Amino acid sequence: MPKPARHILVCTNSRPAGHPRGSCGETQANEVYEKFGMGIEAKQLFGQAILTTTGCMGPCSTGPIVVIYPEGVWYCKVKPEDVDEILDSHIVGGKKVDRLEIPDEMWG
Ligand code: FES
Repeated sequence: MPKPARHILVCTNSRPAGHPRGSCGETQANEVYEKFGMGIEAKQLFGQAILTTTGCMGPCSTGPIVVIYPEGVWYCKVKPEDVDEILDSHIVGGKKVDRLEIPDEMWG
């Protein structure tokens, strides 16, 4: 197995409905994860990216959260229909998708 150039982390943490923090699992995170997996396979990106689910990474109210390393780009409110753009632009083209990045003011 070649060492992957990038690591895609998708938070799929779920909390009970009505929990004050919300969760990525409530906002299509599993569908986002599945779409990444299918996209990596369909676009033959093995070696360019590896995909992992994670637990909570913090900004739950803006989920689903997707983080890509080594750049350390944090995407928020990612929808299944955004996945192809992230794969084509960021993973293949090396250009992050600005419109989905967590705004600087979100960080304390
Ligand atoms: S539940 Fe996904 S970041 Fe907290």
